Amino acid sequence: MSRIALIGAGRIGRIHARNAALHPRLELAAVVDPVEASAQALAAEWGAAVRTLEQVMADPGIAGVVVASSTDTHLDYSMQAIAAGKAVFCEKPIDQDLGRARSAAQALDGSRLLLAFNRRFDPNFRALKAKLDDGGIGGLESLQITSNDPAPPPPSYVAVSGGLFKDMAIHDFDMARWLLGEEPVEVYATGSCLVDPEIGRLGDVDTARTLLRTGSGRLCVISNSRRSGYGYDQRIEAYASGGMACADNVLESTVRLFNDDGSRGDRLQNFFLDRYARAYQAEMDHFADMLAGAPSAVGYADGVAALALAEAATQSMKSGAVVRL
Ligand SMILES: NC(=O)c1ccc[n+]([C@@H]2O[C@H](COP(=O)([O-])OP(=O)(O)OC[C@H]3O[C@@H](n4cnc5c(N)ncnc54)[C@H](O)[C@@H]3O)[C@@H](O)[C@H]2O)c1
Repeated sequence: MSRIALIGAGRIGRIHARNAALHPRLELAAVVDPVEASAQALAAEWGAAVRTLEQVMADPGIAGVVVASSTDTHLDYSMQAIAAGKAVFCEKPIDQDLGRARSAAQALDGSRLLLAFNRRFDPNFRALKAKLDDGGIGGLESLQITSNDPAPPPPSYVAVSGGLFKDMAIHDFDMARWLLGEEPVEVYATGSCLVDPEIGRLGDVDTARTLLRTGSGRLCVISNSRRSGYGYDQRIEAYASGGMACADNVLESTVRLFNDDGSRGDRLQNFFLDRYARAYQAEMDHFADMLAGAPSAVGYADGVAALALAEAATQSMKSGAVVRL
């Protein structure tokens, strides 16, 4: 049994707490959050103790730390935990500032850090990746990644999010790198505020398209919107020399209704907590493997590479020019 601590008892922290507490090889020993009521409630739910950050870092019995607190804490807490000899499961993005993220290379590159790009652990996208890797549809030529939230977040969230590319599309940049199998060398992005004028007033966009091009010429289009209006729209199409592989949306049920008007399927799963529930479990399972000595499948360098693409997309949108990496 590996004893772990959770830092940050918010939306995603509560998911990770549950998955850690129910995991057969992990013990959720401690919860840290400056909001005492949040820490107390979550710790009580899973039989953990409320601790301070300093107590967790100094406790040699804590083998791993899950950093699920606000984005501005990710880099610092990850470095503290690695320096204290702990394995780290760090939420995305690694930071909002590319220069600061890169400056942590000495401390974090090659370390026991899992950067929580949960979509890599989604069974549907894993199956898609396996189909591309086994060569059954030939050489990959292009990707279409569609990632639309059901409804926009509140302005208070947008104000500190770092913008659509660093907060939301960062997952898609990681998927693009993973599936393309090559680093993008050119980025062009454009965006608009079409959904919520308040998002525009905060200097952000809510609708965006990004085009990536790799060194060999593979192309990827990423489509993002903060509002689908019909659920959490998460699809990937991969076009290759011998066919197309497509990971479609996951519906709430497989039931379809048929009548004189035609046929109708169920709704899309509403948001990330449902759509990626199995992915979050699988990534916690991978963290348990890391605590038993396995290398991290997605780490610091992946976090920085995705952030570099998000930074390039932000620059491209502002300048209207292609950014070459
Ligand atoms: N991978 C995913 O699917 C996913 C989904 C949601 C959020 N996230 C990321 O997880 C992080 C948290 O997001 P959220 O939606 O859970 O936010 P949230 O606001 O619901 O929760 C954040 C929690 O962190 C706590 N916190 C703030 N400062 C802290 C500190 N210094 N030490 C300890 N705890 C602190 C807050 O009190 C709060 O309980 C963000 O970086 C976000 O980008 C990832």
